[in-house]
Amino acid sequence: MSDIKREPFDRFPSVYPLRDLSVPFCGFELENPFLLSAAPSTDELDIVRQGLAMGWAGAVLKTTSVPGTLVSLTYPMMSGWRRGEHRLLGMGNIDLISVYHIDEIIARVKTLKKEFPTKLIASSIMGQNKEAWQSLASALSKAGADLIECSFSCPQGSMGEQPGAMLAQSVEATERVARWVKEAADTTPVLIKITPLVTDIAEVARAVERAGCDGVTAANSFPSLMGVNLKTFVPEPDVGGMSTFSGFSGPAIKPLTLYTVAKIASNTKLAISGNGGISDWHDAAEVMAVGASNVQLCTAVMHYGFRIIDDLTSGFSHLLDERGLASVSDLIGKALPNLRGHDDLPRQKVRSHINEETCVACNDCYIACRDGGHIAIEYVGQEIIPKILDDKCVGCGLCVQVCPVVDCITMELVRE
Ligand SMILES: Cc1cc2nc3c(=O)[nH]c(=O)nc-3n(C[C@H](O)[C@H](O)[C@H](O)COP(=O)(O)O)c2cc1C
Repeated sequence: MSDIKREPFDRFPSVYPLRDLSVPFCGFELENPFLLSAAPSTDELDIVRQGLAMGWAGAVLKTTSVPGTLVSLTYPMMSGWRRGEHRLLGMGNIDLISVYHIDEIIARVKTLKKEFPTKLIASSIMGQNKEAWQSLASALSKAGADLIECSFSCPQGSMGEQPGAMLAQSVEATERVARWVKEAADTTPVLIKITPLVTDIAEVARAVERAGCDGVTAANSFPSLMGVNLKTFVPEPDVGGMSTFSGFSGPAIKPLTLYTVAKIASNTKLAISGNGGISDWHDAAEVMAVGASNVQLCTAVMHYGFRIIDDLTSGFSHLLDERGLASVSDLIGKALPNLRGHDDLPRQKVRSHINEETCVACNDCYIACRDGGHIAIEYVGQEIIPKILDDKCVGCGLCVQVCPVVDCITMELVRE
């Protein structure tokens, strides 16, 4: 295979010989870099058991709280962002944290650790005040959790501290609360689950580092408004004629995850668990190539089921072989040296080239270049295949993006 491209879920049959995909994370040896993130898939003991049995390396149990915390759910919770035949480019949810409190989660952590001693069993927590955060962390540490994740970024708001806001939107609150948790967690590693919806994500990550925490989960779903029904003028989801803001997850947010992970990896020494919009092995590898040590998946599992672990592990095995990587660790941060500020990019001239053999004469490139580019594509005489006008093409690449045929239009370097 000369070039590795995405074709989710079926490109690599599960029969591809599996490589050793183990990778260290915060003192724990993961059997592979694929974790279930805090979500409905980790909110029932039997469901999470099934995921672990099918090959996921670990799970972050859905966010829990101290006994007596009111978690008042309403339905429906989900809405989808679709375009054309693509059904779930992004998903919105108005779910809250788990209705199970810490006492139940402690029992589950113990059970799961007994049944799956080699898997990473983590739990996500959210408290209203110092006492709550510290009692949650301390209880999990004593119960033998391998890792504590702190939800500082629930799109429906945090409890207590800055009610209605996400903790990680404040650098000061992030540092203060992260320090409380780390103090109470004894030797158990602590990850802060942040939001990229801030002015400077590096500043927030540095606050986590100053607090002495081990790393971050980067990131979470994004606050969003999923749509508006133009018959009723009720935004989505319609909950009895009213709506609220959703957490936006799934494929559409992957570029934001790449940005967030790359920024944190470039500015801190924190361990990073990459999360947000990862749907297949290719996405996972990209997120790790910009600095994550492992990845967490939620929407892809909710959409396609636990079975995608087979595609993830076979895809990674193939990737390591094709790229001559000795281990998964060698992938981490591999793209970072090639990521620069705009001023540092080489100044070069490129030009589009249309492959006449594969062009389907759809006209899309012509229209895009005419109305959003440089009027550098034209039809000559009665030809139905458009031509690039070399003296007008600046090489912006818009035509490549709108062309429906993969590799029909390519960019070629102009040697002057
Ligand atoms: C229905 C639903 C419930 C979620 N519940 C939690 C939660 O309790 N705690 C948390 O930290 N994240 C929660 N998340 C966020 C996910 O863990 C994940 O960060 C987010 O969906 C982005 O990843 P994805 O694009 O792979 O879905 C939830 C997501 C969904 C879709």
